[in-house]
Amino acid sequence: MLGSGGTDDTRRTDWNAWHDDYADPASALSARLAVVRSEIRLDLDRRAATGWAEPLTVLSACAGDGRDILGVLAERDGRLPGPVEVTLLETDRRNLERAERFCRETGLTGVRLGEEDAGWSGSYLGAAPADLVLMCGVFGNIADADVRRLIEFLPALCRAGATLVWTRSRRAPDLTPAIRDWLAGTGFTELSFTAPPDVLGSVGTHRFDGEPQPLPLDQRLFSFLR
Ligand SMILES: C[S@@+](CC[C@H](N)C(=O)[O-])C[C@H]1O[C@@H](n2cnc3c(N)ncnc32)[C@H](O)[C@@H]1O
Repeated sequence: MLGSGGTDDTRRTDWNAWHDDYADPASALSARLAVVRSEIRLDLDRRAATGWAEPLTVLSACAGDGRDILGVLAERDGRLPGPVEVTLLETDRRNLERAERFCRETGLTGVRLGEEDAGWSGSYLGAAPADLVLMCGVFGNIADADVRRLIEFLPALCRAGATLVWTRSRRAPDLTPAIRDWLAGTGFTELSFTAPPDVLGSVGTHRFDGEPQPLPLDQRLFSFLR
């Protein structure tokens, strides 16, 4: 069936059902989540060592139901040295509803659910610059040129010293060497790159050591391919 935009909607991914693989603890997606959560825990632990007075800001683009950051915050159950403000940008309302339910059930506060297009620069107004930026499940769903454009845009999303956690499959042709080069050229220092030999997924964690940039409000950064 063709939608009004001329795209074949039957080929569009159901991004709510996409989360079903998380129900299987042995799935590649669950393994990836475990790495992402452990990188988030490390970042919070690093920051907790010195404490924070201002709210620590977290931004997740294409956040899904936000289970990476929300899961970690829920397990900390208020045992953090300061407030945390989270913004989830996500276009599938069902995923945001799941995030909202999770927050209600766990008592998590300080979470803004933005039903907004993360591929449009203006959607980040109020959420950027952030201390922790999550780009999980993004780089593998957009054109390579958009990955590069998005990386070049990251200095507008990051505070000085911000941490970026990103994921990308290494399915051939593997774009992760280029992604790591582009990040290095944009002021990011690699803290870790987890790429187990038995799976295609990989998770990178970088610190932003460059100069934060103003947020442009009118740029198209990317559109999902499927
Ligand atoms: C691969 S999933 C990743 C979800 C989550 N980050 C994770 O790792 O579990 C991609 C998500 O991006 C959302 N999405 C797609 N295009 C988007 C856009 N332009 N702006 C915001 N979210 C978008 C989808 O609805 C989907 O939930």
